[in-house]
Amino acid sequence: MKIGIGNDHSALELKAEIIEFLKEKGHEVVDYGTNSAESCDYPVYGELVARAVAAGEVDQGILICGTGLGISLAANKVKGIRAAVCSEPFTAKMARAHNDCNILAFGARVVGGELAKMMVDTWLNTEFEGGRHQRRVDMITAIEEKEQ
Ligand code: RB5
Repeated sequence: MKIGIGNDHSALELKAEIIEFLKEKGHEVVDYGTNSAESCDYPVYGELVARAVAAGEVDQGILICGTGLGISLAANKVKGIRAAVCSEPFTAKMARAHNDCNILAFGARVVGGELAKMMVDTWLNTEFEGGRHQRRVDMITAIEEKEQ
């Protein structure tokens, strides 16, 4: 799978760990930054990854800021994006299985490397179940359409 990853200054170390993990698992990774420890604005990176996912340049996205909140909020403003902030594997699994989320977000100040890797692994190995969940995801998309 081709994964786009983005982060702010709070998540440099965790991102490096996640990139290494993804490559070990045989995934291709596109790093949208930041790669500087200087304080930066998370919406920039949330939008970059979200647009790459929405355009189909990458299959899935991973976003990391201090809490996962700001960067996912920014990503969710891009049409077609469903970014979920998770801090444990069950929610990460359900975000794929029931909500067909296309971006996993988490907080570098919330989860450690091992927990983050468990979530990423679960996320990438869970398929959307469709069926009644498709109807609900379509309803979310319909709300988005009303905003255009
Ligand atoms: C940066 O200090 C912090 O606000 C950011 O990483 C993130 O947690 C925002 O939601």
